[in-house]
Amino acid sequence: MKLDQLVAWLRETQAERLTQLWHIADRTRRRHVGDDVHLRGLVELSNRCVRQCAYCGLRAQNARLQRYRMSAEAVVQSAWDAVAHGYGTVVLQAGEDPGLDAGWVAQTVRRIKSETPLAVTLSLGEREEHELAGWREAGADRYLLRFETSNRRLYQRIHPPRPGGDADRFPLLQTLRRLGYEVGSGVMIGIPGQTYEDLARDVQRFAELDLDMIGVGPYLCHPETPLADPRFRPETDSRDQVPGDELTTYKVIALSRLVCPRANIPGTTALATLNPATGRELGLRRGANVVMVNLTPPRYRALYEIYPDKVCVHEHPAACGACMEDRIRLLGRGLGSGRGDSPNYTARRGEPAGRI
Ligand code: 5AD
Repeated sequence: MKLDQLVAWLRETQAERLTQLWHIADRTRRRHVGDDVHLRGLVELSNRCVRQCAYCGLRAQNARLQRYRMSAEAVVQSAWDAVAHGYGTVVLQAGEDPGLDAGWVAQTVRRIKSETPLAVTLSLGEREEHELAGWREAGADRYLLRFETSNRRLYQRIHPPRPGGDADRFPLLQTLRRLGYEVGSGVMIGIPGQTYEDLARDVQRFAELDLDMIGVGPYLCHPETPLADPRFRPETDSRDQVPGDELTTYKVIALSRLVCPRANIPGTTALATLNPATGRELGLRRGANVVMVNLTPPRYRALYEIYPDKVCVHEHPAACGACMEDRIRLLGRGLGSGRGDSPNYTARRGEPAGRI
């Protein structure tokens, strides 16, 4: 899709036109990835982080946050919880924590892969190529690494590199692809300083990267971060600034579906934070086909505070799963079984398409 078309959709306010967009996105979703909604079990295994991202509550300098790192035993137990709930995938996510030693991660992945039928998705930040390769060899199937924004200047401002490190996540996404991972990325919507044109370019980038998974959600301000300080925020003309609201998030989900029809796209937790009652459902009706269910042990949940007011932090994992399953049935959609690979990935690898 051309840049000006994307910008026009992102700025669209007419209800009828938007209904059209939801309709086309929903139809495209059904045709390419089917009606089933795949649930992923999310395990937030460490909230330790060495980075200084200006938007994220896990940033190293946030001294107010009590830090935790789960034991291998607890991670494997959570993976078993995913099996017990009937999920086909466990997502292991953490801050960028060098204490998650590469060998430890590989060993944990190996255990999950040998003891369970699960697909394993890793979301552990920017790591060395040899580490990513080792995890792939250990059996990890997928990797999530959002590029956050394609505006380089904005990115550099909100995402300082590690000393001596590479500032850019795009080469890393290529590396992940080359290593044979199913690759996911995405952005935040409404970062202070992000313009409509920036966001339109982000969507174009999804297509250029030929992503298998796309996660997008609203930027939510965390008080213990530099972006909470108005003096830190980049200046933008208010007419160009993208709002970090629900409507814009649905637009980006719908447009992502149109540019990457075979990708797996979640209705994200950040979206549910803006609208706990129906946010994820509306996402699922406007292009999304995946939901992540939080399986992090209850005592750690509230500590994985990327942004404030995350939903379901006080729920028991079993209650979360049952609640999501009810919501999906009410939409008239089925629950996915099996791994739920993206057809984009299976086609690239020349494998027969899975059941959709
Ligand atoms: N608001 C919304 N999303 C955030 N993330 C990090 N901080 C915030 C925030 N304040 C998202 C980033 C990251 C993902 C794990 O969480 O996009 O990649």
